[in-house]
Amino acid sequence: MWQSQWRERATLMPFRIDVCDDVLEDLRSRLRRTRWPEAECVDDWSQGMPLAYTRDLAGYWADEYDWRSSEAALFACAELSKTCPDSSRLQARLRVSVGVTPHESTCLEGSTMAKNINLTGKIAVVTGAGSGIGAATARLLARHGAKVHVADINADAAAAVAGEIGGGAVDHAIDVSHPEEVEALAKAVFDQDGRVDILHNNAGIGHGADIDATTVEDWQRVIGVNLLGVAYGVQAFVPRMLEQGHPATVINTASEAGLHPIARMAPYCASKFGVVGMSEALNAELRPRGIRVVALCPGIINTPIVREGTMRGDLSTEQAKIAAFYDKHGASPDTVAAAVLDAIARPRLIVATPRTHVLAPYVLHRISPRLVQPLARVLPKVMTRG
Ligand SMILES: NC(=O)c1ccc[n+]([C@@H]2O[C@H](COP(=O)([O-])OP(=O)(O)OC[C@H]3O[C@@H](n4cnc5c(N)ncnc54)[C@H](O)[C@@H]3O)[C@@H](O)[C@H]2O)c1
Repeated sequence: MWQSQWRERATLMPFRIDVCDDVLEDLRSRLRRTRWPEAECVDDWSQGMPLAYTRDLAGYWADEYDWRSSEAALFACAELSKTCPDSSRLQARLRVSVGVTPHESTCLEGSTMAKNINLTGKIAVVTGAGSGIGAATARLLARHGAKVHVADINADAAAAVAGEIGGGAVDHAIDVSHPEEVEALAKAVFDQDGRVDILHNNAGIGHGADIDATTVEDWQRVIGVNLLGVAYGVQAFVPRMLEQGHPATVINTASEAGLHPIARMAPYCASKFGVVGMSEALNAELRPRGIRVVALCPGIINTPIVREGTMRGDLSTEQAKIAAFYDKHGASPDTVAAAVLDAIARPRLIVATPRTHVLAPYVLHRISPRLVQPLARVLPKVMTRG
């Protein structure tokens, strides 16, 4: 019985996917436009793929490799005589991996499963829900039927979001960097509803500064909110969630800066790498006990985080330009909310969103941390272009 089921699953359907000219040309032009910093060339394989090798390969793919004749040779195989019935969807996915605008990726990142998810009767808690990503997630969860506890240090913002989303939403004014306040939040939620199905530890603050302009208080504040705030959420809620006996999901907001480094953001990166590590360790521990833990890693998202974050030294004079960069190039917080819903609907451990921002540097960092160093150095400069 199990053997026939296994065979059925293992059967591959060899359909062909027709790649449009514009997708191919876009890929070629991106390969050509990639700038490779000569000074950073790694000349041995001990630290991953040498940069010179990667650069040659990209050049070959851009200008010399005959994609169409390879495709034709592949399509000549009898097994590939049929075009994929879902070709337009795959074509769209190809466009995402080659590069699209944030708006397009919003449409593509929410899976059908997530779009149809019914959260009626489910209880959600979202911290930092008075603004940006947290507010967008609270709205989306409520739209799918969940009762949402909207928590934020800004009491007015939390009340405004809870009032707007309805569905019995409750607002709470708490500072996640104070463990006793997070514990009081968990107690209040469990006293009222007796369960939590979705916990989104999302509250966070931004920080950018050269290390010689960074203070010890900066480290304490950033780690206190971004890393310990998440840890306090886990400590206050997870033991209660384990007792409730229902499967549940914990989503911890980390960042792209938790997957690869960014210069002049050491405290922020430390806090977000910490959240990724914490989430992975917790998922390994809790998944067999019915709780999935997800590290949410957004890229550049258009929220007030830069305008309201702390910047010191040279960067403080560039804050307005960096905020303008986020306004202009940032994806909508709704994109991230859709990815959260997707992670609730189907198993995810690390959610990089929008994938067009995060995936390439993340993968590159996994191949070779040294290769990402020039990118880490250049990113703050790019952002100060406004
Ligand atoms: N915007 C981005 O580009 C981006 C990218 C990656 C990760 N993130 C992360 O996403 C999360 C949400 O950020 P956002 O962009 O929506 O920013 P935001 O400023 O719009 O929202 C953050 C919310 O958290 C609240 N908050 C701050 N400190 C708090 C505290 N101590 N206790 C409780 N609430 C507190 C703020 O009042 C605000 O409402 C953060 O953890 C941030 O680090 C943001």
